[in-house]
Amino acid sequence: MANVVVVGAQWGDEGKGKIVDWLSERADVIARFQGGHNAGHTLVIDGTVFKLSLLPSGIVRPGKLSVIGNGVVLDPWHLVSEIEKLRGQGVEITPETLMIAENAPLILPIHGELDRARESANSIAKIGTTGRGIGPAYEDKVGRRSIRVADLADDATLELRVDRALVHHDALRKGLGLEPVDRDRLLADLRAIAPAVLDYAAPVWKVLNEARRGGKRILFEGAQGALLDIDFGTYPYVTSSNVIAGQAATGTGIGPGSIDFVLGIVKAYTTRVGEGPFPAELTDEIGQRLGERGHEFGTVTGRKRRCGWFDAVLVRQTCATSGVNGIALTKLDVLDGFETLKICTGYELDGEMLDHLPTAADRQARCTPVYEEMPGWSESTEGARSWADLPANAIKYVRRVEELIGCPVALLSTSPERDDTILVTDPFAD
Ligand code: IMP
Repeated sequence: MANVVVVGAQWGDEGKGKIVDWLSERADVIARFQGGHNAGHTLVIDGTVFKLSLLPSGIVRPGKLSVIGNGVVLDPWHLVSEIEKLRGQGVEITPETLMIAENAPLILPIHGELDRARESANSIAKIGTTGRGIGPAYEDKVGRRSIRVADLADDATLELRVDRALVHHDALRKGLGLEPVDRDRLLADLRAIAPAVLDYAAPVWKVLNEARRGGKRILFEGAQGALLDIDFGTYPYVTSSNVIAGQAATGTGIGPGSIDFVLGIVKAYTTRVGEGPFPAELTDEIGQRLGERGHEFGTVTGRKRRCGWFDAVLVRQTCATSGVNGIALTKLDVLDGFETLKICTGYELDGEMLDHLPTAADRQARCTPVYEEMPGWSESTEGARSWADLPANAIKYVRRVEELIGCPVALLSTSPERDDTILVTDPFAD
């Protein structure tokens, strides 16, 4: 049976929501393996709009098991409010349909506070985060002072964990000019929220391995994009988790051999939110036009996204680091009506041609994109459901993208509607 990992192959916002929803209909289990409520996935099902940040997309589909893996950082208060909101929209959520890894670390209010304090206090440290405490929560995980889901079940352990975390946080807060943490309040808040989280706590690694052995189809739902990966992204302007496909294994407790297909989600042009390098960025009216046509505003923060031409260098790189077997190309229709299109095929650095983004920040900053020009198309590609519906130049563009990134198109998405999809290879096919 095929298990599929979906990852964003750029800086996030590639349109994963629709593709994941499309695939989740064919899956039995849908698992998140990294990130937290910094993600924003919009699903439109039979005219109803569902906005998800933390819960796996499968949650809106009856009869599916949704799983939050240990690689996710979990804000328990956000969890409860997202569940309540979905219930208000008629979605049934029970311990049979949602399971949360007992070893997932929690995001506490002090993490959000620290994230925002750092972002506003010092322009040198500014990353342009979503302000949701993601980075500080992962810091505590590797610093071995997290409070994890299982800790909520035993009061003595919870107190110990809180004290362990506060030794670090109070010292840090003092340096930042913040008040010490109100220990009793934090403990009281955690005790109050504990039952609502523990209802869903499970040994997720075991559940997933049993599902796999039972021939169930598992969809691993990535958040953000590979260029925001803590190791392979544009560090330090990245998120604090591994985003690439390998994380699906470590972030849930399933062996790497259980992953049969990696689907990279790729937008037909490039966007990023927040700070950091972006070689093919367009600050002119073309960038403006891409942003307007593509409705490029952040789902979580509402920030305007930076836009640029398709950067084949970056996607070739992310397809390699995630072992992408096929891509889902999204938002091709945003390119409708351009007389000519450009694709970044390499970088020039100090008179030398590069076929990858260098690691050193100063070298990244000095890279100038080398473009190839292609004729555009005037016809609309929106809603196309077969290759025959596409103008010849649009097909040429897609073929050139495949060639340059060294990876075939498995799916082509031509509008936010789920049926406006051209299927080339079914990732779930045996
Ligand atoms: P953090 O994940 O909140 O720490 O933010 C770190 C960086 O990742 C910032 O540049 C954010 O804008 C970016 N980021 C985090 N989540 C997303 C997402 O879901 N889509 C796009 N960018 C994101």
